Amino acid sequence: MRVAFFDTKPYDIPGFERSIENKDITIKFYEAKLCPDTVQLAEGYDAVCIFVNDTVNKEVIDKLHGYGVKLIALRCAGYNNVDIKYCYGKIHVVHVPEYSPYAVAEHTMAMLLALVRRIHKAYNRTREFNFSLNGFTGFDLHGKTVGIIGTGKIGCVFGDICRGFGMRTVAYDPFPRGNAGFEYLSLNELFEQSDIISLHCPLIAETKHMIDEQAIARMKKGVIIINTSRGGLIDTESLIKGIKERKIGGACLDVYEEEGDIFFNDLSGHIMDDDTLARLISMPNVIVTGHQAFLTEEALNNIAQTTVNNIISFFINGTCENELCYRCGKVERCKYTRDKKCF
Ligand code: NAI
Repeated sequence: MRVAFFDTKPYDIPGFERSIENKDITIKFYEAKLCPDTVQLAEGYDAVCIFVNDTVNKEVIDKLHGYGVKLIALRCAGYNNVDIKYCYGKIHVVHVPEYSPYAVAEHTMAMLLALVRRIHKAYNRTREFNFSLNGFTGFDLHGKTVGIIGTGKIGCVFGDICRGFGMRTVAYDPFPRGNAGFEYLSLNELFEQSDIISLHCPLIAETKHMIDEQAIARMKKGVIIINTSRGGLIDTESLIKGIKERKIGGACLDVYEEEGDIFFNDLSGHIMDDDTLARLISMPNVIVTGHQAFLTEEALNNIAQTTVNNIISFFINGTCENELCYRCGKVERCKYTRDKKCF
């Protein structure tokens, strides 16, 4: 099995090289993202392996199909960059549904602690031998109320961590979990009662811009907002307005609605074109990381292992439990009703 691996970063290679040891798979690592301009690199391969910012549109799918590529192996959970519907009947798609909820939940707490104890500021100050503490007064997390929106795999782990800090954990989820330790509230009650709000739900039509001006108006003065989920959950202009008006006490953002062409790249030698992101980064009570929450050794190893298993399962067994398919008109439904290949 020959795999063309697109959008390779140095941290991808060790895990994948370990995972293919003694297996009948060879991988060619390309730095380029898969898109109409680079798709010819996939000629002669059985599968392509891609990440969140590769473009798999109709043109790319037709070309891959023409080259005889049988499988698109996403090495991530999300698949909004692949036209799954158009893939049906031409090329199979597999993904990694979960790799480490701990990686994301722990990064969420790392950002929160950094912000409330001003670690990001202290780091810079002590590097210049400035040991003044002025402006660094934080607050205890113990006894505070954290509102967790989305109590799936990551939200539950983050809830456990917060309870370890002695916090009250309230939550909103349309599908509450009975014994997860949360006090479930309506979304508005959560907005009104939380000192800290952390987003852990998927980006879908009903969650887009769920943090907007009306939501912010309901929140406590000084609320901290954390988003390690998807940028589109927050209306960024409303967030900036809330921070400028001192309604929002701070924000921790690992994701950003317009991150596509920015994150995962070194733009330190460029003028930042995105004024909204530049404004956020300029604020002392905002911490931005570049979609980094997943990035731990454990998560990378799980991603590599599951992806390699997906490829082997597809080519050797003929099926793969992590296949995404549009046969039934809805990707998730197909996933749960399939017992053999859909085409
Ligand atoms: P999950 O599928 O286990 O949990 C999602 C939860 O959101 C479910 O309990 C679901 O019922 C709930 N939900 C659905 N609609 C909702 C709504 N309208 N309002 C509130 N909750 C709703 O997903 P998991 O693994 O916990 O991931 C959560 C999110 O984290 C993902 O959607 C993804 O966007 C993000 N993520 C971010 C990463 C990063 O590196 N920053 C890495 C991995 C995931």
